[in-house]
Parts: sequence; structure tokens; C-alpha cells
Amino acid sequence: MKKVLITRKLIKSSEEFASKIFDVKLNHSDEILTNDELILKSKDCDGILTSITDKLDSNIIFKLSDKIKIISNFAVGFGNIDIQAATKKNIVVTNTPDVLTDATAEITILILLAATRRAKEGIDWVEKKNWKWAANFLMGKQLTGSRLGILGMGRIGRAVADRARAFKMKIHYHNRSRLNKNLEKDAVYHSSLQSLLSVSDFFSINCPATPNTKNIINSKTIKYLPNGAVIVNSARGDMIDDDSMVDALKSGKIFALGLDVYNGEPDIHSDYLTLPNVFVLPHLGSSTIKTRTAMANLAIQNMLDFFKTGETKNKVN
Ligand code: GLV
Repeated sequence: MKKVLITRKLIKSSEEFASKIFDVKLNHSDEILTNDELILKSKDCDGILTSITDKLDSNIIFKLSDKIKIISNFAVGFGNIDIQAATKKNIVVTNTPDVLTDATAEITILILLAATRRAKEGIDWVEKKNWKWAANFLMGKQLTGSRLGILGMGRIGRAVADRARAFKMKIHYHNRSRLNKNLEKDAVYHSSLQSLLSVSDFFSINCPATPNTKNIINSKTIKYLPNGAVIVNSARGDMIDDDSMVDALKSGKIFALGLDVYNGEPDIHSDYLTLPNVFVLPHLGSSTIKTRTAMANLAIQNMLDFFKTGETKNKVN
């Protein structure tokens, strides 16, 4: 039986599934392991099932035992793992695509609507118990008939587009390459980010975090947006330069911002917590019972396939 370390607590049924097929080391306290703990606890293991809270940079990867042949990440994003270092060390890295597409698209619509319709301010007024209806009370913007720019038209970007079409939004997108007609549907392709931004009344970040997308939304690119645009990010926090974003929120250049992910999370730029036009959630994108169960089971299955056949379909390196 192969031995695996599961760095964070999973849903009970998934831990039971893993325990049936592997000799597992579980993390009952669910405390994030320090680098030294991760290296030590995985020493006699054949694989590690990691979460996005585990930061496996090259320094840690090269210190891992040579016995470890697979890192199965419990997420679709794998920016928390230095892939080049893993490849050099002959470690296969896998992720959990597809199963979280719908849940993440749903939370994107949630933060899009909440930011646009000023839900946070609304809740604050209700809690203060001193609000009264007025014709101009907390006026927001309307999605219907507006243009939604999507950066990254992969599975999640396309699922966001499908939902936005139900709001009669006109979809525009920028992607590394243009999609084929079947996937593109009625969406308008922009070959540059600048061109996409210039038509985005609403703008959703759905691309993977890579060195190329770090701070891609910054003081220069924000200027290309129409005045009063709304931005949402359900992908990764490091795509936004927070100081520039805060300036744009304060000046009104950006009408509102909806966030589920943060630079250096769980820390959050302090102004995001005090500005009235920012709606924040604690990285809940994939957090439904159905999705988290499917993700954990897929992460386990990725390891099982690899140990059985040497291959696994969700390999990212
Ligand atoms: C969640 O953020 C994921 O990448 O799966």
C-alpha cells in the first residue's frame, strides 16, 4: 500500500476513501504545516495531497524525500507549487479541473451582483436599523444589456459567460488564443488586454496565476477601463495590484470591486475592508459540499491512477 500525506483535513467521506486505498497520514488538527513539518511528515511517503495553503516553492521541493513521486493539489490552480522545481525533481503534479467550474462560476456571479448592487452597504444599513426607502437610496448599476469582459476564457471563464448571458450581458474576452466557434458562441474576442478593458463595463478575472499575469490589473491597465467599471476576481489575488486598485476605487474610476481571492491571503489589503464599494468573501469559490467532495475524490483518484499506471490525466507538468 502506498503511503500518502494529506496536509489538510478533508471532508470525512473523502478521508475514508483515501484511508481504504492508501496508508494515510491525516492532519486531524487541520493546522497548516510549517515547511519543516511538511518535509518531515512526508519523509516516508510516496505522495502528498496538498491544498492551496501549502506553499511549495523550490526550496521546499528540493528538500522533499526522493521517495515522493506525486504532489496532488486539491485545487484547479497550482500557483502554490513551483512546477519547474517539481519537474526537475521528477515529481508529478496534478490538479482538480472541471469539478469546480460551476461552483466557481456561481460565486463569480455572486460577487458581481453583490458589488454592483451595493449589497455590503445595504446589509450595513439594515444592521444599523435606521434605513428608510428613498428614490436615490444606494443606487447601483444594472448588468442587463451591459458588456462583460472576461480575462481568461477557460472552463471557468466560459461558465461565467454562460451565466452572464442569462442576464443579457454581451460577452467580450481576451485569452491566449481565440476559442473555436463552438466554445466562443456569441462572445467577442479581443487580441489584447487593452482592447478588452476598453469595452468592459464589467470585468471578470478568470485566468490562471502565472508570472505573466502577476499585477496584470495595475495603475496603467485600470486606465483603459470605462469610467465607473465594476471588477470581480474569483481567480487569484496576485493578478491585482492592490494599491492601484484602492486608488481607483477611491477616485470613482472603479465603481465597485468584488473579491473572493487576495494577495497573500488570508491577509487582505486593509482598505478593502473599509471601502464601502468593495464586497469581499473568504475564498469560497469551490466551497459547496458537492464540489469539495468531488475535488477531494479527484485529488485522491489522481494519485491512485498514477500509482497504478504511472500516468494520471490531470497532470500539469
Ligand atoms: C481554488 O481556488 C482552486 O484553485 O481550486
